[in-house]
Amino acid sequence: MSSPDKRTILITNALPYANGDLHLGHMVGFMQADLWARFQEMRGNDVIFVGGDDQHGTPIMLSAEKKGITTQELIDQVETNHQADLDEFSIGLDNFTGTHRDENKTISAALYTSLRERGHIDVKVIKQAFDEEKGMFLPDRYVKGTCPKCSSPDQYGDNCEVCGTTYDTTDLIDPYSVLSGKPPIEKESEHYFFKVSEFSEVLEKWRDSDALQPEIANKLNEWFEGGLIDWDISRDKPYWGFEIPDAPGKYFYVWLDAPVGYMASHKVLADRRGEDWEWHWRKESDTEIFHFIGKDIVRFHTLFWPALLHATDYKMPSAVFVHGFLTVDGAKMSKSRGTFIMARTYLKYLDPEYLRYYFAAKFSSSVVDLDLNLEDFVARVNSDLVGKVVNIASRCAGFINKRFDGRLAAQLHDPALHSTMVESVETIAQHYENREFSAAMRDIMKLADLANQYIDENKPWAMIKDEANLETVHSVCTSGLNAFRLLAGLLKPVLPQLAEKAEEFLNIDPIQWNDLSLSLLDHPINSFKPMMTRVDPEAIEAMITDSKADLETAQKEDDTSSKATGPLADDPISPEVNFDDFSKVDLRVAKIVKAEHVEGADKLLQLTLDIGGETRNVFAGIKSAYNPEDLEGRLTVMVANLAPRKMRFGLSEGMVLAAGPGGSDLFVLSPDDGAQPGMRVK
Ligand code: 2FM
Ligand code: ZN
Repeated sequence: MSSPDKRTILITNALPYANGDLHLGHMVGFMQADLWARFQEMRGNDVIFVGGDDQHGTPIMLSAEKKGITTQELIDQVETNHQADLDEFSIGLDNFTGTHRDENKTISAALYTSLRERGHIDVKVIKQAFDEEKGMFLPDRYVKGTCPKCSSPDQYGDNCEVCGTTYDTTDLIDPYSVLSGKPPIEKESEHYFFKVSEFSEVLEKWRDSDALQPEIANKLNEWFEGGLIDWDISRDKPYWGFEIPDAPGKYFYVWLDAPVGYMASHKVLADRRGEDWEWHWRKESDTEIFHFIGKDIVRFHTLFWPALLHATDYKMPSAVFVHGFLTVDGAKMSKSRGTFIMARTYLKYLDPEYLRYYFAAKFSSSVVDLDLNLEDFVARVNSDLVGKVVNIASRCAGFINKRFDGRLAAQLHDPALHSTMVESVETIAQHYENREFSAAMRDIMKLADLANQYIDENKPWAMIKDEANLETVHSVCTSGLNAFRLLAGLLKPVLPQLAEKAEEFLNIDPIQWNDLSLSLLDHPINSFKPMMTRVDPEAIEAMITDSKADLETAQKEDDTSSKATGPLADDPISPEVNFDDFSKVDLRVAKIVKAEHVEGADKLLQLTLDIGGETRNVFAGIKSAYNPEDLEGRLTVMVANLAPRKMRFGLSEGMVLAAGPGGSDLFVLSPDDGAQPGMRVK
């Protein structure tokens, strides 16, 4: 029996596709999940942290074909590489197995059968592009052609990267298969659908259960408003995946068995330990299940997966934690700039703990993107970890080792320093718990500043010159090393290797969260060895140069990545527009002279806008943030030259600009900034 306040926490991070090596973008999720897992474990909770590779789907099959190896060979190679990289970054997964395993096949089939028996599967005939030469159906991204809107050639089958229009593959002019270059034909085939719409109510309830960050809950609201559509879970042969029971030639779509891979990986772990995996996932169990994912795969984890779990009598996730993407030096990772950095390349030049700390110092509970600024990286690691934390130990250790026989004093010189630091421990725990890692790092560094200030003030190196001060030096250095122990403990979820070195040096058992308040007195320590060196800016240069050399590999991965083919980003940045396009947008200050509710619309307000001598009628989706009466008289910015749009409620003659995550956090301009209606916004 576990104790009443001991939690059992199952953690997963999104399973990376098995067609390329990991890059630093992958490490964002893995590190966030790992930091949280390590923290929970240090708190004394039972943590199960499982993962593996996502090994199915067309891109993986084609990638192997291109490389001239079997798909099995490819996924095996990639699994070995992924595992090695994750180990070296200290990602403490309890198990790592790919989705192409028998365990996953069995569980996926069982879940599907249960759905079918309960009447949640529909079979419908759909039409799709088919490559006669290759003898296969083509996912949208494998069909290209001329954009029906702007006539740009070589656009993908689902949207135009030049003008941003989204359309159906069948709308493309002169379509051709990316695989054979031949025009595809339209072919009918039976597909299996999971009737997700039957779970709308359950999902809405789940959305209100604190399982989601506010911006994600808002996203769900949009989907609910649009109505949930049934989810196509089958693909026709040839397909690299699991065949659907009783449906020869039909395979599970990769996104069906990918999240089931979380369960399968857990089963592999539980089997190895002689434990039962399944009850953890049952509705009756107290186990909390948390999925860390990137913002591009929200729909799968917040609609399909919870609905599938619920439908088959498993519990829905306790929470899905969504993070943003990684940028490097303020821009998308770029192969030509050498900022598309593979995990392996980083590891060749830099200590993994540098990156763990840097990411931790930037992680928060929100969905925003995270920037790795390489100059800031060097400065922050050198100043915080080397200059502040490790420095405390190196400033005190020598005296204890050389002058006091390697034994700490029986008393602290400054118990107040210790208790002040201990007072922050619970706040820092709450930051970790809430995944506000940057706030935790900020508070820890404040404590490091206090400890350094204390040593600066007491100057053991000066005091030791007078034999009469010997005892004081002993207790000052003991206070210093106790502060160091506390800092190493607080940082242990982030820097497990540094913590291990600290434990070895201080000659103590692995630090647990509950022992952080203790002090270490009259205790033998070991000799001090340097624990972390400064980041060498030349190593960064070398890594960038090397990443440029990785260009070809990275390019290949990019070309074949399933990101580009299957799960399209739920809310990706729109295609680039050039300056000329942008300057066509006429932005004007507009005064809201009237704002009214719109009957039958949940999100819209009807605004009458004065743009200086002309009024416009605009429907704006800002009802969640504003009462109409609060808007009257305020100024906002509108797109004044947007073509009028006929809506169900009337004609909308422009668009109001608002910013914010959504819901009640949407902002329009306030009236007191000296702007005049009609003024051009530059
Ligand atoms: O987007 C991706 O990289 C997917 N391979 C994530 C899968 S997560 C889980 F469902 F397996
Ligand atoms: Zn176009």
